[in-house]
Amino acid sequence: DGFTAEKLFCQGYSYTYDDVIFLPHYIDFPTDAVQLATRLSRNVPLNIPCVASPMDTVSEAHMAVAMAALGGIAIIHSNTTPSDQAAMVLSAKSRRVPILSSPVFKPPSGRIESLDDFGDSPYVLVTESGTSTSKLLGYVSRLDWQRLNNKEVKIYDYMVNSSDSVPSSNDLGQIDSFLKEKKSNFVPLMNNDEVLDLVTKEDVERIKGYPKLAAGSVGADGKWLVGASIGTRESDKERLEHLLKAGVNVVVLDSSQGNSIYQLEMIKYIKNSYPELDVIGGNVVTMYQADNLIQAGVDGLRVGMGSGSICTTQEVCAVGRGQATAVYKVSSIAYKSGVPVIADGGISNSGHIVKALTLGASTVMMGSFLAGSTEAPGAYEYQNGVRVKKYRGMGSLEAMTKGSDARYLGDTAKLKIAQGVVGAVKDKGSVLKFVPYTLQAVKQGFQDLGASSLQSAHDLLRSKVLRLEVRTGAAQVEGGVHGLVSYEKKSF
Ligand code: XMP
Repeated sequence: DGFTAEKLFCQGYSYTYDDVIFLPHYIDFPTDAVQLATRLSRNVPLNIPCVASPMDTVSEAHMAVAMAALGGIAIIHSNTTPSDQAAMVLSAKSRRVPILSSPVFKPPSGRIESLDDFGDSPYVLVTESGTSTSKLLGYVSRLDWQRLNNKEVKIYDYMVNSSDSVPSSNDLGQIDSFLKEKKSNFVPLMNNDEVLDLVTKEDVERIKGYPKLAAGSVGADGKWLVGASIGTRESDKERLEHLLKAGVNVVVLDSSQGNSIYQLEMIKYIKNSYPELDVIGGNVVTMYQADNLIQAGVDGLRVGMGSGSICTTQEVCAVGRGQATAVYKVSSIAYKSGVPVIADGGISNSGHIVKALTLGASTVMMGSFLAGSTEAPGAYEYQNGVRVKKYRGMGSLEAMTKGSDARYLGDTAKLKIAQGVVGAVKDKGSVLKFVPYTLQAVKQGFQDLGASSLQSAHDLLRSKVLRLEVRTGAAQVEGGVHGLVSYEKKSF
């Protein structure tokens, strides 16, 4: 009944996730028995198969701590200076709670002019010289300032004196106990002598309320796992030095067509210079491309060309591949060398994740799915009454103007051609909430397939036990909600 993957993907068609459907198999275990632990690359284990894309509207320090706390990882983008990128890696690795706010610092001799001086923070922290690295003396709360409402008064006349703080390596439980013991509403986090951040009682309660599906991703250094992307230019070798100093755990060579002499040479350079560091190559969509990168020594392969929600590569350059076909084809060769595959782009629901992982991927990399979240960079705005955050392709003119053109090999070209667009995605709330729900749905998909782990799904596919079919246009319509006048889409 149905087709084997081998047969289905050998017919000359390029299939996307929506084109194909798995036939259910046999269930002999409960949903919660499904194990989603996996590997990002040869030597980087993860507890959940989710990776945040190296894009400047997705992965900065806040996304990195949140993804690591969930058991996944974020790859911090390189569309900024090497020192900025390294600072983001360091910031993520210096904290343990999945929180990142931007506290405001003032000296005691300073004044608070208006509530705007608090930024997004409920407190202004008072330090000796008004910087994060000088001695912590106390704080002013929004409420205290509102009561006073006098911009002439110097801070030392009404601030609360307190040097209470906890190390930024404290976890949520430790911070919770501290706040309860001291009956405090917040506590500053210290990284050596620097005030790194502050955590409020509300933050702690909010995070405690989220479902917990897996343990966080901790490296051998005892800190969160954090990845970063780099390019393949000479200057990227220096960028790598910065990232290594910041403690980066894995690097991704960020290119839309990874099978290039530049990338092969970069892989060899990194594997020679830093044999301990895992290097992920890509992007690739064919077995030939994958084989070249495997021969050069990559520890992981990123698969996808033009399948991303903001991508126009297939239209602009006439190259690429349907993502289901690409993931299956590349995985079918990569597994022989023990190289994990990252299915990158085109994920818009939990079913797509089930398909990507069953077709051979070890993780999925997501941009739009994670964009628009609390943890994504950028501020919320309103478009036609809908709360949104910006999400843009790294090959969009706007992003390339900021520096990301090397990914699209536009660095030597005088005329820049966009291979991506700028858009916006709806406010989705915190990844700490919606990723666990999404993965619970993925577990149910695995259960329907009779696969209790990623490895077992891969084995069932290769041993031809799992069967699939192509969905006709009408079957795709039937598989979605249809025939209703209206409905509310709510998954959890
Ligand atoms: P999703 O579908 O998750 O895709 O939003 C994210 C992935 O898309 C790739 N990417 C691009 N591809 N032009 C492209 O052709 C672009 O401007 C662009 N920006 C990102 C990238 O692989 C990312 O992980």
